[in-house]
Amino acid sequence: MEIVIQKSAEEAARIGARIVARQIQRKPNTVLGLATGSTPLGLYRELIRLHREEGLDFSKVRTFNLDEYIGLSFDHPMSYHHFMWENLFRHLNIAKKNVHIPDGLAKDVPAFCERYEKDMKKAGGIDIQVLGIGSDGHIGFNEPTSSFSSRTRIKTLDGQTRKDNARFFKSITEVPHHCITMGIGTILESRTCLLFAFGKGKAEAIRESVEGPMAAMCPASVLQWHRDTRVLLDEAAASKLKKRAYYRSVYAGKPAWQQY
Ligand code: F6R
Repeated sequence: MEIVIQKSAEEAARIGARIVARQIQRKPNTVLGLATGSTPLGLYRELIRLHREEGLDFSKVRTFNLDEYIGLSFDHPMSYHHFMWENLFRHLNIAKKNVHIPDGLAKDVPAFCERYEKDMKKAGGIDIQVLGIGSDGHIGFNEPTSSFSSRTRIKTLDGQTRKDNARFFKSITEVPHHCITMGIGTILESRTCLLFAFGKGKAEAIRESVEGPMAAMCPASVLQWHRDTRVLLDEAAASKLKKRAYYRSVYAGKPAWQQY
């Protein structure tokens, strides 16, 4: 794991965007795994800027989103489809056929999930997976106790996650109880994971994920096992890490060819 601590979320988002941009320049048909929620918004804004101002080309990029609420249609304002088109895709030159987001209205959910996994494989696997983290340590919607080898499937949201996400809805009663999410096993197959966390509310989950034991009670801790995970934090999210000084010195001492 590489831990990168920046003064602000904006700085961390810019570093993340540079990593994604370099990957797309190296491999124009890069496969990106994408997340929703408030955390990746800065990253998406920076990717849009790079596209507009520096010509970063998304025409061949393929994307697979982590998750979607069950029961919300594509055009529902709280659906992750709507979120992704509003906050990222409609601002890029991405081809609609290259965008994949779980279908919250799928009639046969297990069959849909199997196809989603097959489509990811057919695309050659995910090159970079963007992740946020829940206050309970979830990644995607893999709640505590999710299997480390789980694949894309239906999950029941934890009460805490519904509470956390109620801020996007009119009231908590509107927050769906179920979702489709990539599994932890699916996420682990990505070549690179970029885990972003900002704010004090994420500090405990980050401490447990980075310096705690690897345990199903904190799903993001499984990233300790992943061969190329980079954790991009602001000061507040990093505030409970014991080895903060070490992570900073590693980052400051990176040779030029390794810098972002
Ligand atoms: C969303 C997702 C979730 C969020 C997490 C944090 O696609 O996969 O794991 O990343 O719930 O949400 P925010 O960023 O809103 O704090």
